[in-house]
Amino acid sequence: MGQQQLKDSYKDYFKCGVAVAPLHLQEGKFHQNLIATHFNSIVAENVMKPEKIQPVEGTFTFEEGDKIIAFAQMHHMSVRGHTLLWHQQTPEWMFEDGEGKQVSREQLLNRIRTHIMTTMTHYKGQIEVWDVVNEVISDEGEYRESKYFKIIGLDYIETAFKIAKEADPNAKLFINDYGIEGNCPKRTAIYKLVKALLEKGVPIDGIGIQCHINEVVPDLEELRETIHLFAALGLEVQITELDISLYTDKEQPSIQPNREILEKQAIRYANLFQLLREEKEYITNVTFWGISDDISWLNNFPTKGRGDAPLLFDTLGQAKPALKAIIEIIE
Ligand code: GLA
Repeated sequence: MGQQQLKDSYKDYFKCGVAVAPLHLQEGKFHQNLIATHFNSIVAENVMKPEKIQPVEGTFTFEEGDKIIAFAQMHHMSVRGHTLLWHQQTPEWMFEDGEGKQVSREQLLNRIRTHIMTTMTHYKGQIEVWDVVNEVISDEGEYRESKYFKIIGLDYIETAFKIAKEADPNAKLFINDYGIEGNCPKRTAIYKLVKALLEKGVPIDGIGIQCHINEVVPDLEELRETIHLFAALGLEVQITELDISLYTDKEQPSIQPNREILEKQAIRYANLFQLLREEKEYITNVTFWGISDDISWLNNFPTKGRGDAPLLFDTLGQAKPALKAIIEIIE
């Protein structure tokens, strides 16, 4: 008996997405088969970030992103675009003039405009949702002191959304962040920011909760409260980068994922998906940050070489208890 497909199980709830590298979409890889079988939404793990799209000023490289779009179209998948503005994985030239001196506010605003306009025009009509800005709030709940913030001031955020709206009026425009799942100063800060922007008429359609989580954090009832809080602003909510780490601390020694550990993880996944199902009215997409444990970024973060097993498929592409658990709660 074949494994039930994740996307079919959740068709009455929300889209199920996955972050990929073009390499894993090649024929002959087990990754490719799993991605096409179980998911109806896709996002580039890296290749649509500013350093990949525009490594040199004025030189746009869309080839790798285009491979993801082609795969998505062939398999009737929706695409999330990630990400237009971020303090990481953005080339240094963005903030410097020819002599290595910091650019002016005007120059940086022009560069933002060129980057967003060119990127979104290239992908117009092919990307349903864009993460316009990523991680603009600090862990302490302040505005993140990125170069964008320091050179332009807080209005870089609304400017980015307005340009994005102009570039592709039909794309849904999102603000995305981590560490906002539970009740904390960071959640309060992003809530206040988005509320103020919406009151000014800034075109924001939704908020992405990354959900790089573990067995303990967040408390799921706090996550429910978060979803309601954001939804009350009239926003769509998406879970954009889901994985459930085996670790709660970066000092913990390496864990071998035995049966017991994987069953425990499956229960955590099932409880999370039970909640997400109950909140389907507000949630439009749940995206996993990777297809299988062999290629998860958490193998090397926050502790290099420690390994982790946060996803639905193991290092050989076999379905883990977590997949069975989230499908079975539907049946
Ligand atoms: C953040 C970013 C993602 C990705 C992950 C780590 O959450 O939004 O693009 O870089 O970190 O892989």
